[in-house]
Amino acid sequence: MAGPLPTHLLPEHSEIAADGRLSIGGCDLLDVAAEFGTPLFVYDEQHLRNRCREAVAAFPDGVAYATKAFLCVAMAKLVHEEGMDLDVATGGELHVALTAGVPAEKLVLHGNNKSLAELAYARTVGVGRIVVDSFDELERLTRLHQDDGYAPKVLLRITPGIEAHTHEFVMTGQEDSKFGFGLRSGAAGRAIELASASPAVDLVGIHMHIGSQVFVADSFHDAVEAMVPFVTTHDLPEFSIGGGLGVPYVEGESAPTMADWGGAIQAAAREAGITARITAEPGRSIAAAAAVTLYTVGTIKDVPGVRTFLSVDGGMSDNPRPVLYGSGYETFLPRATDAERTKPVRVVGKHCESGDLLVREGWVPDDVAIDDVLATPVTGAYGHSMGSNYNKILRPAVVFCRDGDARLVVRRESFDDLVRNDVV
Ligand code: LLP
Repeated sequence: MAGPLPTHLLPEHSEIAADGRLSIGGCDLLDVAAEFGTPLFVYDEQHLRNRCREAVAAFPDGVAYATKAFLCVAMAKLVHEEGMDLDVATGGELHVALTAGVPAEKLVLHGNNKSLAELAYARTVGVGRIVVDSFDELERLTRLHQDDGYAPKVLLRITPGIEAHTHEFVMTGQEDSKFGFGLRSGAAGRAIELASASPAVDLVGIHMHIGSQVFVADSFHDAVEAMVPFVTTHDLPEFSIGGGLGVPYVEGESAPTMADWGGAIQAAAREAGITARITAEPGRSIAAAAAVTLYTVGTIKDVPGVRTFLSVDGGMSDNPRPVLYGSGYETFLPRATDAERTKPVRVVGKHCESGDLLVREGWVPDDVAIDDVLATPVTGAYGHSMGSNYNKILRPAVVFCRDGDARLVVRRESFDDLVRNDVV
């Protein structure tokens, strides 16, 4: 038995009514589900704004939202309104940000394999910075420079050679990584020599990103420490420490706040004599806890003596994280948010795969029934953005709730969308 849902996992502007019904941003979740259908991503808009404001306060020298965590036009507008830059990792993310009206100089382009076309797009619109990841990319930038003589501002992505405490798939700071120029191998030194001497780029800084969902402040500290000699020797105006701040997903987890994270990193950098502007790129810590996903329970299967499967109308196509990383989530019924959760269940999706699960070990009230709306909290990051159309399931809609108003920001896909690109 798991007790009621720990309310600290809910978005900031959540309210449980006397009858147990949950509203977010003043919008009752069962009403929102009835109006927009399920599966549905419901964001607390003010929660998103508050996290952006915290990030801006924690990194006064500049901070970009890592759009890969969750991106749509409304989200790009929101983070820009709140004073953040935007980290885009592909031509596609760049395009969405520009479509939202974000000025190109507010954008930072990432990617370990940027195509010539992506680099050309970024240069033409004038993105603020390009984070160069490889020697091949430097060469592509040189080729483009030969045509027009333009030298974009760039940072070099350096892998500090430390292993962050996180899942292997989201660890990026180790020497054995597809990302960046390794410090230990000497690649970082060669890259900086080349870039400094090259007329094709205007080298303005150094970048690192050690991984994602990192809870242990020591990992960031170790990474900064590993970078100190390099950063101080080359004395460039900007040092970006990337993203990676973890968030609690389930009962018992806790993470540093944005202010703690920013404070600790900047203190470590200053103590070590780094005078560069310290910038960062949080994604998950902005978006994850701002949203819950709503599903409808369709079948309940008891396997006597083993477990109960609750099948819902979404699955690995709206949240692949449990399948990819074994990530844990809580679950609850928004009609009885503060009820004791006495029934152990496995929440599974509707895909044709046994592995398609959303909550491996979940708990719900005993009276869970067909047609109940079921929610998973902390699903605002890397769910919608990593979603798919597997089994031709329609991608869910996204709603932003604030002050009692539920605003549709991404409409649900239609069957017609599924054949839109087919050539007959
Ligand atoms: N900057 C760079 C260069 C990155 O590669 C990332 C994330 C971030 C910033 C933002 O990291 P965050 O603050 O969100 O941790 N799909 C995985 C996470 C992959 C993260 C990829 N890069 C997951 O669902 O856990």
